[in-house]
Amino acid sequence: MDSAIPMTQPKTTDSSSARRDTLSVTDNRTGKTYEIPVTNDTIRANDLRKIRVDESDFGMMSYDPAFNNTASCISRITFIDGDKGILRYRGYPIEELAEKATYLETAYLLLHGELPTESQLREWQHHITHHTFIHESIKKFLDGFHYDAHPMGMLISTIAALSTFYPDAKHIFDPESRKKQTYRLIGKMPTIAAFSYRHTLGMPYVYPDNDLSYPGNFLNMLFRTSETRYRPNPTLEKALDILFILHADHEQNCSANTIRGVGSSHVDPFCASAAATAALYGPLHGGANEEALRMLMEIGSVQKVPEFIKRVKAGETRLMGFGHRIYKNYDPRARIIKRIAYEVFDLMGKNPLLEIALECERIALEDEYFVKRKLYPNVDFYTGLIYQSMGFPMTMFPVLFAIPRMSGWVAQWEEMLLDTEQKIARPRQIYLGHDTRSYVPIEQRS
Ligand code: CMC
Repeated sequence: MDSAIPMTQPKTTDSSSARRDTLSVTDNRTGKTYEIPVTNDTIRANDLRKIRVDESDFGMMSYDPAFNNTASCISRITFIDGDKGILRYRGYPIEELAEKATYLETAYLLLHGELPTESQLREWQHHITHHTFIHESIKKFLDGFHYDAHPMGMLISTIAALSTFYPDAKHIFDPESRKKQTYRLIGKMPTIAAFSYRHTLGMPYVYPDNDLSYPGNFLNMLFRTSETRYRPNPTLEKALDILFILHADHEQNCSANTIRGVGSSHVDPFCASAAATAALYGPLHGGANEEALRMLMEIGSVQKVPEFIKRVKAGETRLMGFGHRIYKNYDPRARIIKRIAYEVFDLMGKNPLLEIALECERIALEDEYFVKRKLYPNVDFYTGLIYQSMGFPMTMFPVLFAIPRMSGWVAQWEEMLLDTEQKIARPRQIYLGHDTRSYVPIEQRS
């Protein structure tokens, strides 16, 4: 749509005139005024292109590094009100889902738009469960990694490698194929994650147990040793399921934007989600849970917290697990996670780093530096403490974020594919480099 209408006469403001959903813009370089339609409180960036100095002018663009104020899509999956600290999946508050739903039910909701009926849920669970096994060659592939390889590196590569095992995945506009790849991606994530973990320990891989729940089977593949039948601890199984719900989607974050961007080239979903997993690995995104725990260990004691906060305020380091692009209030996920932490500590014993975390939060919530910038604990601040108490090594923390995020990624990918307004993602740039110049032979260069 390209609907900016140039107006020959400057528009006068008439308070009695009926409200119009348009924006009037006057270009002071030419004196021309343009009326641009406003829909959903948004103007179309393409409408700015009519604003030109002369016929040869390319037209106006908007400049928005890091997409601070640019909507890249219309979505109906996840809603966040960052000022109020609200998060909803398909309209359902995260608090209600965390209390009443299971992760697989939530994944169904994200992907299908509605909560499943009993028979739909049974069928969904059956399909996911029956896609948890991985090809024996993937085991050999994992064996090739060095013993101290980071499990996120193994996860990213193995998800990408799945595309070579399932070439049918390239039929992205076939709904049946998309369904199959969805089962495979959600079903195989815990298996690849657990196998990566066992590989780093040099322990034999544990095959999926289809009689267990999604998180229960994951715990089985991670921690089973000599038992004939592994029985997950119900408190840990439930805690993990809730953590999975909280991490399932988060609208247009860095990795969701990645799967949409990479997927827009129409590559298969395994390659697109491997790219999203790579985006998640960064310390400013899903890698922050690992970094937050390393930070608490580095601080070392409650007495040293004020000194560390001083360094943060001096810009020497960041308080990992704090701050968010969208939330300018307490992250609603962090509130639920704090509650789960105590339930896990009741069972496993209190994590000694908890006191340091609580002191960081106490000081930060009172300190002007953090208050002024609206920096609150995010999802990654307390998760590391829980994961550590559950027996996970730090390198597994981002993996624990990636497993449930797969359902959100696939939902975002499919929404993008079926959106007729979407095309290959291709931003513009402002070129400020050299103008044309002639090649200089090497011997003449200074
Ligand atoms: N510690 C100290 N100062 C901070 C922090 C922090 N964690 N986060 C932001 N600030 C300051 C920042 O220095 C800047 O100050 P100033 O205005 O004086 O330059 C101001 O707050 C705004 O920060 P920003 O970097 O412009 O904000 P952003 O929206 O680009 O970044 C963020 C958001 C999450 C990357 C950032 O808050 C951060 O680096 N946090 C630590 C990493 C972290 O916990 N990431 C997990 C995010 S939640 C999980 C997920 O969905 O990925």
